[in-house]
Amino acid sequence: MAQPYVLLSAAVSLDGFLDDTGPERLLLSGPEDFDRVDEVRAGSDAILVGAGTLRTDNPRLLVYSEERRAARVRAGRPEYPLKVAVSASGDLDPDALFWHTGGAKALYTTDKGAERLSGLLPADVDVVALGPDAEWRAVLAHLGDVKGVGRLMVEGGGQVHTQLLQQGLADELQLVLAPLVVGQPDAPRMFGPGAYPPGRMRLLETRPVGDVVLMRYAPTAPGIGRSASAADRRWLETACELAAQCPPSRTAFSVGAVIVAADGTELARGHSREGGDPVVHAEEAALAKLDPADPRLATATVYSSLEPCARRASRPAPCARLILDAGVRRVVTSWREPDTFVAAADGTGLLTSEGVDVVVLPEYEERAKAPNAHLLSPDEGR
Ligand SMILES: NC(=O)c1ccc[n+]([C@@H]2O[C@H](COP(=O)([O-])OP(=O)(O)OC[C@H]3O[C@@H](n4cnc5c(N)ncnc54)[C@H](OP(=O)(O)O)[C@@H]3O)[C@@H](O)[C@H]2O)c1
Repeated sequence: MAQPYVLLSAAVSLDGFLDDTGPERLLLSGPEDFDRVDEVRAGSDAILVGAGTLRTDNPRLLVYSEERRAARVRAGRPEYPLKVAVSASGDLDPDALFWHTGGAKALYTTDKGAERLSGLLPADVDVVALGPDAEWRAVLAHLGDVKGVGRLMVEGGGQVHTQLLQQGLADELQLVLAPLVVGQPDAPRMFGPGAYPPGRMRLLETRPVGDVVLMRYAPTAPGIGRSASAADRRWLETACELAAQCPPSRTAFSVGAVIVAADGTELARGHSREGGDPVVHAEEAALAKLDPADPRLATATVYSSLEPCARRASRPAPCARLILDAGVRRVVTSWREPDTFVAAADGTGLLTSEGVDVVVLPEYEERAKAPNAHLLSPDEGR
């Protein structure tokens, strides 16, 4: 499944509100920031908005700069990003500007929502009914797999932002802080109450844009159990980058590993043949940097570009055993071990047989294989 990169974008007042309670939309951004948003839109494959925002603001969600639209066309992309709306109820105005401006449009809804809207929306709107509920993972999977969306910009409102962040599905937040105070407790907030992934996000950037400040953050907390979060994908990318930095070898794989606490704190990282040790494995190198009694290990996740080994000749304990002995209960990897050095190695099988949740994200397999291409048969290297 090719999950899109999900970017949550919003402007908030100094007291954290997305809007006030008045009938008109409160303008929080200044002209420079509206232009920045236009640029982010132009760089996205799709722009998504919740039905609440459609009902309240009647937005068009266009790329307004002709130059940016022309650049998209020159690059072989559609003039406008795909516009996406979500509504469970189907309570939408068919005359809303959203449906009658820009390029391609899609609505993700429930079976009931699709029934309610049957024949009402313009014929070119792709109405995708996702069963009794429109689960976010199903929406994102459809956008990635069927619509080919690689980069999704989410432009609100509060409920949509809240759900995507709470479910660990946001890769990045682009939050603009505007210099005004709303002061109305009933006004919509960007993030509502509820349970969010724990820990601190990673600061990617701050930038003044006119009189507002842009803050970009990336969530870092691993997913839970077999369910992958957006942060899992970023950490696995880091493991793949580490694999690419290994000293080359003709007799062993190049692998990267990162160990991350439940709150998103990086505990340790390692890679094959680290520190001049010709046989050390990535997970082994990372685990060796931690106190075996570290209580964070019990809820940590190990990210490894190649599944942890189940058997090895070079040392008595394979990495799957080291992970089990460390008390780690969750592993994320991208590539199941081929028979190159050990026949039928099944580190995933060993880990799962002892109760560890193993998440395999095959969309990163090619990146994990890249530094090992010289070890793989043409068939395996594909
Ligand atoms: N400052 C900013 O940058 C900014 C940006 C955008 C919006 N806003 C403000 O935000 C406010 C609107 O926010 P809001 O929280 O009321 O609404 P919202 O988040 O825009 O939309 C919520 C609606 O989206 C639909 N929805 C949510 N999750 C869904 C799912 N998984 N499947 C199917 N449908 C789903 C539901 O529609 P149904 O009810 O139809 O089922 C739900 O009621 C407005 O005041 C607007 O001005 C501000």
